Amino acid sequence: MTKRKRVILSGMRPTGKLHLGHLVGALENWVALQHEFQNYHLIADYHALTTNPDTTHIPEHSREMLIDWLSAGIDPSLSPVFRQSRIKQHTELHLLFSMLISSSRLERNPTLKEQVRDLEMESVTYGHLGYPVLQAADILLYKGEVVPVGEDQLPHIEITREIARRFNQQYRRVFPEPEARLTKFARLPGLDGRRMSKSVGNTILLSDSPKLIQEKMKKAVTDPKKVRRGDPGRPDICLVFAYHNKFNQPEVPAIRQGCESGALGCVDCKMNCAQHVVEALAPIREKRAYYESHPDEVAAILNEGERKAGEVAKATMAEVHEAMGMG
Ligand code: TRP
Repeated sequence: MTKRKRVILSGMRPTGKLHLGHLVGALENWVALQHEFQNYHLIADYHALTTNPDTTHIPEHSREMLIDWLSAGIDPSLSPVFRQSRIKQHTELHLLFSMLISSSRLERNPTLKEQVRDLEMESVTYGHLGYPVLQAADILLYKGEVVPVGEDQLPHIEITREIARRFNQQYRRVFPEPEARLTKFARLPGLDGRRMSKSVGNTILLSDSPKLIQEKMKKAVTDPKKVRRGDPGRPDICLVFAYHNKFNQPEVPAIRQGCESGALGCVDCKMNCAQHVVEALAPIREKRAYYESHPDEVAAILNEGERKAGEVAKATMAEVHEAMGMG
């Protein structure tokens, strides 16, 4: 008998076209784990509404994100991909879970506090406060055991565990207590050295053309003390060096030496780096072009993912109702 695979539930809010930070920080990990685990990949379109109820860009952003997932190597025949909004059980489980956690616990969520500060929000909606409750429903509806996330999501996984425990105690054991799995690779900095983020405009997108990648890389910020070729540089504070580390491992010792001695100029170093990024993204670019020109296939993949996810969701909710004596 084959061993049952452990379940991974991973998700992203639909932010549109993805960038290198998503690839290195999440997608590569998803792809690497897709054989060892049973994966479910969720497009968190309802979560997108928690900070902004405007739906104008959600369909387009969801589609672009899905194409990037597929192009990066997610195999939809192994791992269903689906929209949260199409699987009605998310909202039902969210409601039931909302009875199992106090509002003061949710108010203490540090990720919420950060968002309120960063987005300068004057008040928090009921739905935004419940963000982690919806996320708990996302994960537990599929009985997710492992959740690959970034550091900022750890408080949400902790709340998910608390809710699972509470449900199991109150009714009957239905849910696992999922664990977070942090991505190993340190975040790739943006082209200005800050955190790579669409809103800052310091990204390289998976869909960028080779020419655009070169242009963007040309403007990347390097060591401010290295003004011209001949000046010694400090690779460890240079974001271009971080990119070499990721995309051009074999040349790293030579680049370090050239930068520190001053023999290597920043322009040459950047153009070499851009070339390696362009090459690394070539297979993604190729698949992207394919999916762009086969929208029916993308729609069919999503349809099939939603069918499979819907079956699992239905089975879990039957167990939930049963455990609650409301079957
Ligand atoms: N909150 C996650 C983020 O902002 C997105 C998300 C929603 C998610 N539901 C999830 C991630 C379930 C993992 C599992 O990145």
